[in-house]
Amino acid sequence: MNPAERSRTQIAVLDTGGQYCHLIARRIREQGVSAEVLPSATPAEQLRAFKGVVISGGPSSVYEPGTPTVDPALFSRGLAVLGICYGMHLMAQLNGGRVERGERGEFGPAWLEIDDPDVLFSGLERRQPIWMSHRDAVTSLPPGFRRLGHTDTCPVAAMADEARRLYGVQFHPEVVHTRRGAELLANFLFRVCGCERDWDPKRQLEALKQRIREAVGDRNVLFFLSGGVDSTVAYTVTIRALGPERVHGVYVDTGLMREGETEFVAAVFESLAAGNFFIEHAAEEFLSALAGVRDPEQKRVIIGEKFVDIQERILERGHYLDGHWILGQGTIYPDTIESGGTAHADVIKTHHNRVAGIQRLIEANRIVEPLTSFYKDEVRELGRALGLPETILSRHPFPGPALAIRCLCTDSSEPVRRLEDGWILPVRSVGVQGDSRSYRPVLALEEFPAPGEELHDEATVLINRNAGINRVVALVASHTALGRMSTHPSEISPERLARLRRADAIVRRLAHESSFDRRIWQFPVVLIPVGDAGRPDSVVLRPVDSVDGMTANAVLMERGLLDTMSGELLSLDGVAAVFYDLTHKPPATIEWE
Ligand code: XMP
Repeated sequence: MNPAERSRTQIAVLDTGGQYCHLIARRIREQGVSAEVLPSATPAEQLRAFKGVVISGGPSSVYEPGTPTVDPALFSRGLAVLGICYGMHLMAQLNGGRVERGERGEFGPAWLEIDDPDVLFSGLERRQPIWMSHRDAVTSLPPGFRRLGHTDTCPVAAMADEARRLYGVQFHPEVVHTRRGAELLANFLFRVCGCERDWDPKRQLEALKQRIREAVGDRNVLFFLSGGVDSTVAYTVTIRALGPERVHGVYVDTGLMREGETEFVAAVFESLAAGNFFIEHAAEEFLSALAGVRDPEQKRVIIGEKFVDIQERILERGHYLDGHWILGQGTIYPDTIESGGTAHADVIKTHHNRVAGIQRLIEANRIVEPLTSFYKDEVRELGRALGLPETILSRHPFPGPALAIRCLCTDSSEPVRRLEDGWILPVRSVGVQGDSRSYRPVLALEEFPAPGEELHDEATVLINRNAGINRVVALVASHTALGRMSTHPSEISPERLARLRRADAIVRRLAHESSFDRRIWQFPVVLIPVGDAGRPDSVVLRPVDSVDGMTANAVLMERGLLDTMSGELLSLDGVAAVFYDLTHKPPATIEWE
């Protein structure tokens, strides 16, 4: 966000390290109010121009040394402040109240009893379903504050000092499980802070184009395109700002893409900038570099290095490193390091840093990132306003290494083994347990769970009980009994990629026709080298729901759709069985690798 914009932003969200911080800012913007995320320690002096401040929740405890804090002057400047969870704890502690560790935590749904229907709860019933996630609690109110609400286990679930416009809530109004959370935020924004509706991404298109023109000057812009939403919208808005002659787009065909992907992307981009979009055909290069490679980390390293080589080659060949060109990128707001609190930012950075030529452009500030003020949903809105097809805008996220991390390999022939709880598939997949990645075999259940069965809890119990595994799948359908299947040496071959591509296309079509794809965040389809004599592979379905990919829930599908899907998949050449992944993240990751 540039300084002129910042001075007009109405709400500052102070980031205390919580996973919900960006979600709060998004929810505020959804009300049409401009909001931005700032480091928690931002001096109160710099917050003067804002109409209100929200202090986010965070994982720390306020009574531990060295945990994030806010400038105490924040509370004496006449600024309206809303503290959420840890933010309320800071507000209590810094104003002379007390915060202590509770005997038991409160995680998940709870009922809020409103003791005092204050302006914050205006229009809401006295009893409200809310979402809690805490162990610490305010045990003594600061002077001047009074309690507004409580729950069975939390004596102070909401508090306020109305005279000073200071409000605190223990629960999370930003998550959808707090049913009237949006109204509560609206009460704070419009009734307490006096905000106006000033935020509408679509209406910022003209200003955005103007900013691009200013940033680029008389140079030209090169984009590396992935076919994903962010880079596509960034590229399109830059073309609209500068004209198609001054913007080049390159798409690298790795040979690892989904069925029809390269053709689809090419058709969209060519219609945007005929003649100035090109495809770098590199399928042969990627496939030969991956021949014989089975280890997941090695696959990633090889693909990453290939990308670097190819991008360097393109930069050099097209003379993009001379003074006339800058690099365009689709970085969006949560990817920026502005808040100082998003660990994610570092990951993105190291990723891009790997290409020396790109690094030089970044260091020389020869880079334009049109979307750094926007969240993903807002980027989609911009894309709609630009007339991009919904087929691009509503896509599920797709990983950079593409099908390579969904095509599992092994170098051994091992039979499937019986265990008390099910069958061990001797093919290892990646998981995340605690803070570290695991690489372990999979447990397969013979029966698909009946509707309503708490399969995910069962999956977690099974993983806790069987230390050697990190993932649980259920058999959906097969040509051969599980006990007669085995693994066999396999690598990323054109034949297996073609099989996976067919399976993925079937699943995508059926998920789309049934609208199942709208209920989920992502639907990886995985090929594993577990099969019988004539059919070397099986297909795993991995539909998940998530907000940001950091954690995810496995999602069940209704039986009719599942039967149609598995029927079509089993008719594919070389496919022995269809499995369904029942595991949340953690303990499993979304991708199998
Ligand atoms: P995991 O498997 O770690 O995946 O649970 C979390 C999310 O990240 C995506 N993913 C990637 N995205 N480049 C990307 O742009 C990558 O290298 C990459 N690896 C995983 C994955 O699809 C999921 O949405």
